[in-house]
Amino acid sequence: MMFMLVLAACGTGETGTGGEAEEGTEEAKKSLIVGTDAAFAPFEYMDKGEIVGFDVDFLTAVMEEAGYEFELNNIGWDPLFASVQGEEIDLAISGITINDDRKQTYDFSTPYFQSTHMIVFNEGAGITSAKDLEGKRIGVQNGTTGQSAAEKIVGANNANISKYETTAVAFMALANGDVEVVVTDNVVANEYVKNNPDAKVEAIEDPENFDSEYYGLMFPKGSELKAEFDAAIKTVIENGTYTEIYKKWFGTEPNVDELLAAE
Ligand code: ARG
Repeated sequence: MMFMLVLAACGTGETGTGGEAEEGTEEAKKSLIVGTDAAFAPFEYMDKGEIVGFDVDFLTAVMEEAGYEFELNNIGWDPLFASVQGEEIDLAISGITINDDRKQTYDFSTPYFQSTHMIVFNEGAGITSAKDLEGKRIGVQNGTTGQSAAEKIVGANNANISKYETTAVAFMALANGDVEVVVTDNVVANEYVKNNPDAKVEAIEDPENFDSEYYGLMFPKGSELKAEFDAAIKTVIENGTYTEIYKKWFGTEPNVDELLAAE
């Protein structure tokens, strides 16, 4: 009897040790290198020398949940894709839309944000639908789904489309008249309109011509991190942390059920 009890106690002890060993493993996890293009407010942008935004807070929560330390580097949009593909960085977060084209080269996490496109234009430009992009000088960030959305309307390689290195520079081109409209993600478009009351710009949606998209974390193809981060994202969405961060940045409640169903 005594012997059995000792064994049972050992069994329990082992479970406890297992837990500690797991903690030990977490400490041993390497610090991850994350890349972003911090010119995409309110998702990621520079504020007093620091990268801040919804994506940064969301990433911090997910990293904590997954048990990783990380370093976030502002490396720019085009280099982001090359760096993930070349496995120079472990993952990227940058309001990156999950689509079939990109899925051929990269792995994406489960979706964490729903988006669509908007057209930003100078007041009085008379734009009422995406069809009005026809014949307009259009600014987009190079290699974004905003570019694809504009090309879908006016045709790929249309000379009226100017492709800028960042979305912020595309907005500058709008401000100084180099382009008449900018096509970009809806939340970023609204943020620009809100933050630049003197620029006299407005923005419109067009659900008939602009698709719904989802953002995901982007990993090198075959990365073992994907499974861990999918689980961490799910937890952060389900336990209310996501909702808190969402409300902090957007002032409204997220549609968590729709997001979880979008997987
Ligand atoms: N969602 C769009 C895309 O994936 C634009 C993202 C741009 N993000 C950025 N940080 N500049 O193409």
